[in-house]
Amino acid sequence: LQSLAARVRPGFRIGAAVALGPLAADRQYARHFVGNFGALTPENAMKPQALAPRQGVYTFEEADALLDLAASEDISVHGHTIAFTEAMPRWMRDLPTDSAEDRRASADALLDYVRTVVTHFRGRLDSLDVVNEPFDVDQGTDLQENVWYRVFGASYPVVVSKAVHDADPDVRQFINENGADVPGPRQDALRRLALDTNAQGGHIAGVGLQAHVYDLDTDTVSADDLTTTLERFADAGLLVRISENDVTDSEGQDAQAEQYATILATCLRSEACVSYTTWGVDDRYDWFTDEDGRLQQGHDLLFDDGSPTPAYDALREAL
Ligand code: XIL
Repeated sequence: LQSLAARVRPGFRIGAAVALGPLAADRQYARHFVGNFGALTPENAMKPQALAPRQGVYTFEEADALLDLAASEDISVHGHTIAFTEAMPRWMRDLPTDSAEDRRASADALLDYVRTVVTHFRGRLDSLDVVNEPFDVDQGTDLQENVWYRVFGASYPVVVSKAVHDADPDVRQFINENGADVPGPRQDALRRLALDTNAQGGHIAGVGLQAHVYDLDTDTVSADDLTTTLERFADAGLLVRISENDVTDSEGQDAQAEQYATILATCLRSEACVSYTTWGVDDRYDWFTDEDGRLQQGHDLLFDDGSPTPAYDALREAL
């Protein structure tokens, strides 16, 4: 896929989210990843709960191994993620924020985390989700009141963005969100957040639209809607990454394949849309599993147990 994409749009990257486990253990999976993708997003390895299990204790091994593999294969890396409510270790989530003194100490701890992590990865990341899923779940448009919010207030994305920039001025910064793929209040809120952050001295290059499509009955992303979306962000001077695309086969594999192809083809037509990433490679390791590790949602990705799916063929045709 990546070599086809590079012919259509030089510089354009087709990426996938991956974990080290299957890459190291499953040669077929590794071959499919390296053979098709030109960008890598660590699926979990760069989340705060993975990088700093205890305050001041850093575990960079898995992320470093992924970055080494990417570097050896000429694959660019998108970092994921700094401020993310859902993926904080307990110490970070529970930093005290009651008094002004508490908040000062907690601010130091949070900024120390950003400095340490971004400095560690400096020069190896093309781009980075500095804030992930800022808004209340279920289509909300208010900021989640996580520890970043409690310490720094509603302008915490400015603080994160500046701290990232201080440690690595070259990494392209993104704010990533789900449910903002089509025009509507949530998308407006995302655009406003990115622009407000920059108006206050932040360094946001663009937004990530996750494009998890779980219900083709209600969530389909049409070419028209996505075109309008991309135009709006482009008009605002913001880049767009399609950052976590996956589509269930609840309406059959043809409809699924068509949805994949529509999103990629529409993205490719817009200069503002700089990359397209699927959230995983093979259904064998799909993230949507129940507690016993069984798939909840059926077949979502471009490979299924080692074989290319109709969605894979549709993406090839879209290129
Ligand atoms: C998911 C991972 O894929 C899972 O392995 C993990 O258990 C939970 O997180 N939006 C995001 C990603 O921004 O970080 C999430 O990743 C999927 C939804």
